[in-house]
Amino acid sequence: MSTDSPKTYTIKNYGCQMNVYDGERMAEMFAAQGMAEADDKASADLVVLNTCHIREKAAEKVYSEIGRLRRKDGTKPIVAVAGCVAQAEGGEISRRAPEVDIVVGPQAYHNLPDMIATVGRGERVVDLDLPGLDKFAKLPARRKQNATAFLTVQEGCDKFCTYCVVPYTRGAEISRGWAELIDEAKALVDAGAKEITLLGQNVNAWADGEQDLGSLIRVLDKIDGLHRIRYMTSHPNDMTDSLIAAHGDVEKLMPFLHLPVQSGSDRILKAMNRSHSRDSYLHILDRVRAVRPDIAFSGDFIVGFPGETDADFEHTMSLVRETGYAQAYSFKYSARPGTPAADMADQIPVEVMDERLQRLQAQLVADQAAFNRNTLGKTTEVLLERPGKLAGQLIGKSPWLQSVHVLAPGLSIGDVVTVDITDSGPLSLKGEPKMRAAA
Ligand code: 5AD
Ligand code: SF4
Repeated sequence: MSTDSPKTYTIKNYGCQMNVYDGERMAEMFAAQGMAEADDKASADLVVLNTCHIREKAAEKVYSEIGRLRRKDGTKPIVAVAGCVAQAEGGEISRRAPEVDIVVGPQAYHNLPDMIATVGRGERVVDLDLPGLDKFAKLPARRKQNATAFLTVQEGCDKFCTYCVVPYTRGAEISRGWAELIDEAKALVDAGAKEITLLGQNVNAWADGEQDLGSLIRVLDKIDGLHRIRYMTSHPNDMTDSLIAAHGDVEKLMPFLHLPVQSGSDRILKAMNRSHSRDSYLHILDRVRAVRPDIAFSGDFIVGFPGETDADFEHTMSLVRETGYAQAYSFKYSARPGTPAADMADQIPVEVMDERLQRLQAQLVADQAAFNRNTLGKTTEVLLERPGKLAGQLIGKSPWLQSVHVLAPGLSIGDVVTVDITDSGPLSLKGEPKMRAAA
Protein backbone atom coordinates (compact mmCIF):
# COMPACT_ATOMS: atom_id res chain seq x y z
CA MET A 1 0.00 0.00 0.00
CA SER A 2 1.35 3.47 -0.74
CA THR A 3 0.19 6.59 1.04
CA ASP A 4 -0.07 10.20 -0.14
CA SER A 5 2.48 12.41 1.55
CA PRO A 6 0.91 13.78 4.74
CA LYS A 7 -0.29 17.38 4.82
CA THR A 8 -1.26 17.63 8.47
CA TYR A 9 0.32 16.28 11.63
CA THR A 10 -0.30 16.00 15.33
CA ILE A 11 2.24 15.19 18.04
CA LYS A 12 1.29 13.74 21.40
CA ASN A 13 3.95 14.04 24.08
CA TYR A 14 4.24 11.80 27.12
CA GLY A 15 6.70 11.98 30.00
CA CYS A 16 9.36 14.56 30.64
CA GLN A 17 10.19 18.03 29.33
CA MET A 18 12.88 16.55 27.10
CA ASN A 19 10.06 15.01 25.09
CA VAL A 20 8.25 18.35 24.97
CA TYR A 21 11.42 19.89 23.53
CA ASP A 22 11.84 17.05 20.99
CA GLY A 23 8.17 17.43 20.04
CA GLU A 24 8.69 21.16 19.36
CA ARG A 25 11.71 20.40 17.16
CA MET A 26 9.69 17.80 15.21
CA ALA A 27 6.90 20.33 14.70
CA GLU A 28 9.41 22.87 13.37
CA MET A 29 10.75 20.22 10.99
CA PHE A 30 7.28 19.29 9.72
CA ALA A 31 6.47 23.00 9.23
CA ALA A 32 9.68 23.37 7.19
CA GLN A 33 8.39 20.48 5.02
CA GLY A 34 5.19 22.42 4.34
CA MET A 35 2.98 20.43 6.71
CA ALA A 36 0.47 22.10 9.04
CA GLU A 37 -0.60 21.16 12.54
CA ALA A 38 -4.01 19.45 12.28
CA ASP A 39 -6.89 21.49 13.75
CA ASP A 40 -8.78 18.28 14.28
CA LYS A 41 -6.32 15.79 15.75
CA ALA A 42 -8.55 12.83 14.88
CA SER A 43 -8.19 13.52 11.16
CA ALA A 44 -4.43 14.29 11.07
CA ASP A 45 -2.54 12.55 8.22
CA LEU A 46 0.42 11.85 10.50
CA VAL A 47 0.32 11.08 14.22
CA VAL A 48 3.52 11.07 16.26
CA LEU A 49 3.33 9.50 19.70
CA ASN A 50 6.38 10.80 21.54
CA THR A 51 6.58 8.23 24.28
CA CYS A 52 8.02 7.72 27.75
CA HIS A 53 9.24 4.44 29.18
CA ILE A 54 10.10 5.43 32.71
CA ARG A 55 7.16 3.69 34.36
CA GLU A 56 4.99 0.81 33.26
CA LYS A 57 1.70 2.54 32.69
CA ALA A 58 3.23 5.03 30.28
CA ALA A 59 4.05 2.29 27.73
CA GLU A 60 0.64 0.65 28.19
CA LYS A 61 -1.05 3.99 27.53
CA VAL A 62 0.81 4.19 24.23
CA TYR A 63 -0.47 0.80 23.08
CA SER A 64 -4.05 1.72 23.89
CA GLU A 65 -3.60 5.09 22.16
CA ILE A 66 -2.34 3.31 19.01
CA GLY A 67 -5.42 1.08 19.06
CA ARG A 68 -7.66 4.17 19.06
CA LEU A 69 -6.05 5.64 15.92
CA ARG A 70 -7.97 3.38 13.54
CA ARG A 71 -11.00 5.26 12.20
CA LYS A 72 -14.55 4.04 11.71
CA ASP A 73 -14.18 4.07 7.91
CA GLY A 74 -11.22 1.68 8.18
CA THR A 75 -8.57 4.31 7.34
CA LYS A 76 -5.77 5.33 9.64
CA PRO A 77 -3.11 8.04 9.77
CA ILE A 78 0.59 7.37 9.29
CA VAL A 79 1.62 6.40 12.81
CA ALA A 80 5.11 7.12 14.16
CA VAL A 81 6.12 5.99 17.63
CA ALA A 82 9.02 8.13 18.86
CA GLY A 83 10.73 8.61 22.22
CA CYS A 84 11.88 6.11 24.81
CA VAL A 85 9.28 3.36 24.32
CA ALA A 86 10.39 3.29 20.68
CA GLN A 87 14.03 2.99 21.73
CA ALA A 88 13.35 0.30 24.34
CA GLU A 89 10.84 -1.87 22.50
CA GLY A 90 12.04 -1.32 18.93
CA GLY A 91 10.56 -3.61 16.26
CA GLU A 92 8.43 -5.30 18.95
CA ILE A 93 6.09 -2.28 18.69
CA SER A 94 5.24 -2.89 15.03
CA ARG A 95 4.78 -6.60 15.76
CA ARG A 96 2.41 -5.87 18.63
CA ALA A 97 0.70 -2.94 16.90
CA PRO A 98 0.40 -3.38 13.11
CA GLU A 99 -0.97 0.20 12.82
CA VAL A 100 2.54 1.53 13.47
CA ASP A 101 4.49 2.59 10.35
CA ILE A 102 7.54 4.20 11.93
CA VAL A 103 9.50 3.45 15.09
CA VAL A 104 12.06 6.21 15.73
CA GLY A 105 14.38 6.64 18.71
CA PRO A 106 15.06 9.95 20.48
CA GLN A 107 18.38 10.49 18.67
CA ALA A 108 17.08 9.75 15.17
CA TYR A 109 13.94 11.86 14.77
CA HIS A 110 15.68 14.31 12.41
CA ASN A 111 15.32 11.47 9.85
CA LEU A 112 11.50 11.55 10.06
CA PRO A 113 10.96 13.27 6.67
CA ASP A 114 12.92 10.50 4.90
CA MET A 115 11.12 7.86 6.92
CA ILE A 116 7.74 9.32 5.98
CA ALA A 117 8.77 9.18 2.31
CA THR A 118 9.69 5.50 2.77
CA VAL A 119 6.28 4.81 4.28
CA GLY A 120 4.79 6.52 1.20
CA ARG A 121 6.46 3.78 -0.85
CA GLY A 122 4.62 1.19 1.20
CA GLU A 123 7.38 0.17 3.66
CA ARG A 124 7.61 0.31 7.43
CA VAL A 125 10.70 1.82 9.09
CA VAL A 126 12.56 1.32 12.36
CA ASP A 127 15.47 3.70 13.17
CA LEU A 128 16.93 3.38 16.63
CA ASP A 129 20.44 4.68 16.00
CA LEU A 130 22.03 6.59 18.87
CA PRO A 131 24.43 8.71 16.75
CA GLY A 132 25.30 11.25 19.46
CA LEU A 133 24.08 14.74 18.76
CA ASP A 134 23.84 14.64 14.95
CA LYS A 135 20.20 15.59 14.97
CA PHE A 136 20.76 19.11 16.32
CA ALA A 137 22.83 20.12 13.30
CA LYS A 138 20.15 18.81 10.95
CA LEU A 139 17.05 20.41 12.46
CA PRO A 140 15.64 23.67 11.09
CA ALA A 141 16.04 26.99 12.95
CA ARG A 142 13.91 27.78 15.98
CA ARG A 143 10.58 29.48 15.24
CA LYS A 144 8.26 31.74 17.22
CA GLN A 145 8.38 30.98 20.92
CA ASN A 146 6.09 31.29 23.90
CA ALA A 147 7.24 33.39 26.84
CA THR A 148 8.94 30.28 28.22
CA ALA A 149 11.13 27.98 26.15
CA PHE A 150 13.03 24.75 26.65
CA LEU A 151 16.59 24.25 25.48
CA THR A 152 18.09 20.74 25.60
CA VAL A 153 21.77 21.12 26.45
CA GLN A 154 22.63 17.56 27.38
CA GLU A 155 21.20 14.12 26.79
CA GLY A 156 21.65 10.70 28.24
CA CYS A 157 22.80 9.35 31.54
CA ASP A 158 25.79 7.38 32.84
CA LYS A 159 24.57 7.05 36.39
CA PHE A 160 22.84 3.68 36.06
CA CYS A 161 20.52 3.96 39.04
CA THR A 162 19.43 0.36 39.41
CA TYR A 163 15.72 1.06 38.81
CA CYS A 164 16.03 3.30 35.76
CA VAL A 165 15.78 2.69 32.01
CA VAL A 166 17.14 6.06 30.90
CA PRO A 167 20.80 4.99 30.46
CA TYR A 168 19.50 2.30 28.08
CA THR A 169 16.93 4.37 26.17
CA ARG A 170 18.72 7.71 25.94
CA GLY A 171 22.30 6.41 25.85
CA ALA A 172 25.45 7.81 27.44
CA GLU A 173 25.78 11.36 28.77
CA ILE A 174 26.61 13.72 25.95
CA SER A 175 26.72 17.52 25.94
CA ARG A 176 25.95 19.92 23.12
CA GLY A 177 28.67 22.48 22.36
CA TRP A 178 28.92 25.86 24.04
CA ALA A 179 28.72 28.02 20.89
CA GLU A 180 25.76 26.12 19.42
CA LEU A 181 23.82 26.51 22.67
CA ILE A 182 24.45 30.22 22.96
CA ASP A 183 23.27 30.64 19.36
CA GLU A 184 20.10 28.64 20.04
CA ALA A 185 19.42 30.58 23.27
CA LYS A 186 19.75 33.88 21.37
CA ALA A 187 17.45 32.58 18.63
CA LEU A 188 14.87 31.62 21.26
CA VAL A 189 15.00 35.10 22.82
CA ASP A 190 14.80 36.75 19.37
CA ALA A 191 11.72 34.58 18.75
CA GLY A 192 10.01 35.86 21.90
CA ALA A 193 11.22 33.71 24.82
CA LYS A 194 11.63 35.56 28.13
CA GLU A 195 12.57 32.49 30.13
CA ILE A 196 14.75 29.54 29.11
CA THR A 197 14.79 26.24 30.97
CA LEU A 198 17.94 24.29 30.22
CA LEU A 199 17.11 20.62 29.92
CA GLY A 200 18.94 17.34 30.23
CA GLN A 201 18.45 13.95 31.84
CA ASN A 202 21.46 15.04 33.88
CA VAL A 203 21.48 18.68 32.99
CA ASN A 204 24.09 19.61 35.57
CA ALA A 205 26.52 17.09 34.07
CA TRP A 206 26.69 19.44 31.06
CA ALA A 207 30.30 20.23 30.18
CA ASP A 208 32.29 21.60 27.27
CA GLY A 209 36.03 21.36 28.01
CA GLU A 210 36.61 23.33 31.21
CA GLN A 211 33.15 24.90 31.12
CA ASP A 212 30.36 23.55 33.32
CA LEU A 213 26.68 24.42 33.61
CA GLY A 214 27.52 27.28 36.00
CA SER A 215 29.70 28.88 33.28
CA LEU A 216 27.00 28.38 30.64
CA ILE A 217 24.41 30.04 32.90
CA ARG A 218 26.76 33.01 33.46
CA VAL A 219 27.03 33.56 29.69
CA LEU A 220 23.29 33.20 29.09
CA ASP A 221 22.79 35.80 31.85
CA LYS A 222 24.31 38.35 29.44
CA ILE A 223 21.65 37.88 26.75
CA ASP A 224 19.54 41.05 26.56
CA GLY A 225 15.82 40.34 26.62
CA LEU A 226 16.24 37.08 28.55
CA HIS A 227 14.72 37.54 32.02
CA ARG A 228 14.84 34.13 33.61
CA ILE A 229 16.98 31.00 33.52
CA ARG A 230 16.06 27.61 35.01
CA TYR A 231 17.48 24.12 34.63
CA MET A 232 16.32 20.56 35.20
CA THR A 233 16.83 17.65 36.04
CA SER A 234 19.95 17.46 38.15
CA HIS A 235 21.89 14.75 39.92
CA PRO A 236 23.32 15.57 43.37
CA ASN A 237 26.79 14.38 42.35
CA ASP A 238 27.03 16.96 39.57
CA MET A 239 26.26 20.01 41.74
CA THR A 240 29.64 21.66 41.09
CA ASP A 241 31.01 24.56 43.16
CA SER A 242 30.60 26.82 40.13
CA LEU A 243 26.93 25.88 39.70
CA ILE A 244 26.15 26.36 43.38
CA ALA A 245 27.93 29.74 43.26
CA ALA A 246 25.82 30.73 40.22
CA HIS A 247 22.72 30.47 42.43
CA GLY A 248 24.23 33.26 44.54
CA ASP A 249 25.52 35.59 41.86
CA VAL A 250 23.39 35.20 38.71
CA GLU A 251 20.27 37.26 39.22
CA LYS A 252 18.42 35.73 36.25
CA LEU A 253 18.86 32.23 37.66
CA MET A 254 15.57 31.61 39.44
CA PRO A 255 15.63 30.57 43.13
CA PHE A 256 14.35 27.08 42.46
CA LEU A 257 16.24 23.79 42.32
CA HIS A 258 14.79 20.45 41.28
CA LEU A 259 17.17 17.94 42.85
CA PRO A 260 15.84 14.38 43.05
CA VAL A 261 16.87 12.35 46.09
CA GLN A 262 14.61 9.26 45.57
CA SER A 263 14.94 7.99 49.16
CA GLY A 264 16.00 9.21 52.61
CA SER A 265 17.53 5.87 53.60
CA ASP A 266 21.25 5.32 53.01
CA ARG A 267 20.69 1.59 52.69
CA ILE A 268 18.18 2.09 49.87
CA LEU A 269 20.25 4.83 48.21
CA LYS A 270 23.11 2.34 48.05
CA ALA A 271 20.89 -0.38 46.57
CA MET A 272 19.65 2.22 44.06
CA ASN A 273 23.31 2.99 43.13
CA ARG A 274 22.60 6.67 43.69
CA SER A 275 26.22 7.32 44.78
CA HIS A 276 25.16 10.01 47.24
CA SER A 277 24.01 9.65 50.83
CA ARG A 278 21.19 11.29 52.73
CA ASP A 279 23.71 13.58 54.44
CA SER A 280 25.65 14.49 51.31
CA TYR A 281 22.33 15.41 49.64
CA LEU A 282 21.20 17.55 52.58
CA HIS A 283 24.63 19.18 52.67
CA ILE A 284 24.20 20.30 49.04
CA LEU A 285 20.83 21.86 49.88
CA ASP A 286 22.52 23.71 52.79
CA ARG A 287 25.24 25.02 50.50
CA VAL A 288 22.69 26.32 47.98
CA ARG A 289 20.65 27.90 50.81
CA ALA A 290 23.80 29.59 52.08
CA VAL A 291 24.29 31.47 48.78
CA ARG A 292 20.58 31.91 47.98
CA PRO A 293 18.54 31.99 51.19
CA ASP A 294 15.17 32.18 49.40
CA ILE A 295 15.84 29.05 47.29
CA ALA A 296 12.90 26.65 46.91
CA PHE A 297 13.52 22.93 46.50
CA SER A 298 11.75 20.28 44.50
CA GLY A 299 12.55 16.58 44.33
CA ASP A 300 11.64 13.14 43.02
CA PHE A 301 10.86 10.19 45.29
CA ILE A 302 10.37 6.49 44.73
CA VAL A 303 8.53 4.44 47.35
CA GLY A 304 8.63 0.67 47.55
CA PHE A 305 12.06 0.07 46.02
CA PRO A 306 12.91 -3.65 46.53
CA GLY A 307 13.83 -4.32 50.15
CA GLU A 308 12.45 -0.99 51.45
CA THR A 309 11.42 -1.54 55.09
CA ASP A 310 9.09 0.59 57.19
CA ALA A 311 12.20 2.03 58.83
CA ASP A 312 13.71 2.95 55.43
CA PHE A 313 10.48 4.64 54.45
CA GLU A 314 10.42 6.60 57.72
CA HIS A 315 13.86 7.95 56.78
CA THR A 316 12.32 9.27 53.56
CA MET A 317 9.47 10.87 55.51
CA SER A 318 11.91 12.53 57.91
CA LEU A 319 14.06 13.84 55.05
CA VAL A 320 10.93 15.36 53.49
CA ARG A 321 9.92 17.01 56.79
CA GLU A 322 13.45 18.29 57.30
CA THR A 323 13.69 19.81 53.80
CA GLY A 324 10.22 21.34 53.39
CA TYR A 325 9.88 20.95 49.60
CA ALA A 326 8.02 23.65 47.66
CA GLN A 327 6.79 20.88 45.34
CA ALA A 328 7.82 17.34 44.47
CA TYR A 329 7.07 14.29 42.35
CA SER A 330 6.62 10.90 43.96
CA PHE A 331 6.15 7.50 42.37
CA LYS A 332 5.58 3.88 43.23
CA TYR A 333 8.58 1.80 42.23
CA SER A 334 7.94 0.16 38.87
CA ALA A 335 10.13 -2.82 37.89
CA ARG A 336 11.56 -2.07 34.46
CA PRO A 337 12.69 -5.10 32.44
CA GLY A 338 16.46 -5.18 31.96
CA THR A 339 17.28 -3.02 34.99
CA PRO A 340 19.17 -4.60 37.93
CA ALA A 341 16.46 -3.76 40.48
CA ALA A 342 13.85 -5.74 38.53
CA ASP A 343 15.71 -8.93 39.53
CA MET A 344 16.29 -7.98 43.17
CA ALA A 345 14.78 -10.07 45.92
CA ASP A 346 12.09 -8.68 48.20
CA GLN A 347 9.92 -6.78 45.72
CA ILE A 348 7.40 -4.79 47.75
CA PRO A 349 3.67 -5.65 47.54
CA VAL A 350 1.58 -3.03 45.79
CA GLU A 351 -0.66 -2.45 48.85
CA VAL A 352 2.40 -1.49 50.89
CA MET A 353 3.54 0.85 48.12
CA ASP A 354 0.07 2.41 47.92
CA GLU A 355 -0.01 3.09 51.63
CA ARG A 356 3.50 4.60 51.67
CA LEU A 357 2.81 6.73 48.59
CA GLN A 358 -0.37 8.09 50.17
CA ARG A 359 1.45 9.09 53.34
CA LEU A 360 4.33 10.64 51.42
CA GLN A 361 2.05 12.57 49.10
CA ALA A 362 -0.06 13.85 52.01
CA GLN A 363 3.11 15.30 53.53
CA LEU A 364 4.32 16.76 50.21
CA VAL A 365 0.94 18.33 49.46
CA ALA A 366 0.82 19.86 52.95
CA ASP A 367 4.34 21.23 52.53
CA GLN A 368 3.48 22.71 49.14
CA ALA A 369 0.38 24.38 50.59
CA ALA A 370 2.47 25.74 53.48
CA PHE A 371 5.07 27.05 51.04
CA ASN A 372 2.34 28.78 49.04
CA ARG A 373 0.73 30.23 52.18
CA ASN A 374 4.07 31.77 53.04
CA THR A 375 3.92 34.00 49.96
CA LEU A 376 0.54 35.42 50.98
CA GLY A 377 0.75 39.19 51.47
CA LYS A 378 4.13 39.33 49.74
CA THR A 379 5.04 41.08 46.51
CA THR A 380 6.69 39.09 43.78
CA GLU A 381 7.56 39.18 40.09
CA VAL A 382 5.44 37.08 37.76
CA LEU A 383 6.17 36.19 34.14
CA LEU A 384 2.79 35.96 32.40
CA GLU A 385 2.71 32.77 30.31
CA ARG A 386 -0.79 31.90 29.16
CA PRO A 387 -4.45 32.93 29.28
CA GLY A 388 -6.58 31.79 32.22
CA LYS A 389 -10.18 30.54 32.10
CA LEU A 390 -11.77 33.83 33.14
CA ALA A 391 -12.06 36.85 30.83
CA GLY A 392 -9.01 39.08 31.23
CA GLN A 393 -7.22 36.49 33.36
CA LEU A 394 -3.60 35.55 32.75
CA ILE A 395 -1.54 32.85 34.41
CA GLY A 396 2.14 33.16 35.07
CA LYS A 397 4.88 31.84 37.30
CA SER A 398 6.55 33.27 40.35
CA PRO A 399 10.34 32.92 40.63
CA TRP A 400 9.63 29.80 42.76
CA LEU A 401 7.66 28.18 39.93
CA GLN A 402 4.29 28.72 41.61
CA SER A 403 1.36 29.34 39.25
CA VAL A 404 -0.07 32.80 39.84
CA HIS A 405 -3.47 33.85 38.44
CA VAL A 406 -3.96 37.56 37.82
CA LEU A 407 -6.81 39.60 36.39
CA ALA A 408 -4.75 41.81 34.22
CA PRO A 409 -6.48 44.17 31.83
CA GLY A 410 -3.88 45.88 29.68
CA LEU A 411 -1.23 43.26 30.33
CA SER A 412 -0.01 40.65 27.85
CA ILE A 413 1.58 37.25 27.79
CA GLY A 414 5.33 37.72 28.07
CA ASP A 415 5.07 40.68 30.46
CA VAL A 416 6.99 40.49 33.72
CA VAL A 417 4.80 42.14 36.34
CA THR A 418 5.10 42.93 40.03
CA VAL A 419 2.21 41.26 41.81
CA ASP A 420 0.78 41.41 45.35
CA ILE A 421 -0.17 37.87 46.35
CA THR A 422 -3.73 38.04 47.66
CA ASP A 423 -4.82 34.41 47.87
CA SER A 424 -3.04 31.08 48.20
CA GLY A 425 -4.42 27.66 47.36
CA PRO A 426 -2.69 24.30 47.63
CA LEU A 427 -1.51 24.39 44.00
CA SER A 428 -1.64 28.02 42.92
CA LEU A 429 -1.78 31.65 43.97
CA LYS A 430 -3.85 34.69 43.05
CA GLY A 431 -2.37 38.14 42.79
CA GLU A 432 -2.99 41.75 41.88
CA PRO A 433 -0.56 43.39 39.51
CA LYS A 434 1.00 46.57 40.89
CA MET A 435 2.98 47.79 37.93
CA ARG A 436 4.76 46.56 34.88
CA ALA A 437 8.38 45.71 35.80
CA ALA A 438 9.58 45.10 32.27
CA ALA A 439 8.08 44.61 28.86
N1 5AD B 1 9.97 3.31 39.05
C1 5AD B 1 9.44 4.43 39.62
N2 5AD B 1 9.91 5.66 39.42
C2 5AD B 1 10.96 5.80 38.60
N3 5AD B 1 11.65 6.88 38.21
C3 5AD B 1 12.62 6.49 37.36
N4 5AD B 1 12.58 5.17 37.19
C4 5AD B 1 11.56 4.71 37.96
C5 5AD B 1 11.03 3.41 38.21
N5 5AD B 1 11.55 2.33 37.66
C6 5AD B 1 11.37 8.23 38.70
C7 5AD B 1 12.56 8.82 39.48
C8 5AD B 1 13.11 9.81 38.51
C9 5AD B 1 11.86 10.27 37.80
C10 5AD B 1 12.09 10.95 36.49
O1 5AD B 1 11.12 9.09 37.61
O2 5AD B 1 12.07 9.44 40.63
O3 5AD B 1 13.80 10.88 39.15
FE1 SF4 C 1 17.75 7.49 35.69
FE2 SF4 C 1 19.43 7.78 37.77
FE3 SF4 C 1 20.12 8.65 35.31
FE4 SF4 C 1 18.21 9.94 36.70
S1 SF4 C 1 20.38 9.74 37.30
S2 SF4 C 1 18.13 9.36 34.51
S3 SF4 C 1 17.21 8.26 37.76
S4 SF4 C 1 19.79 6.53 35.92
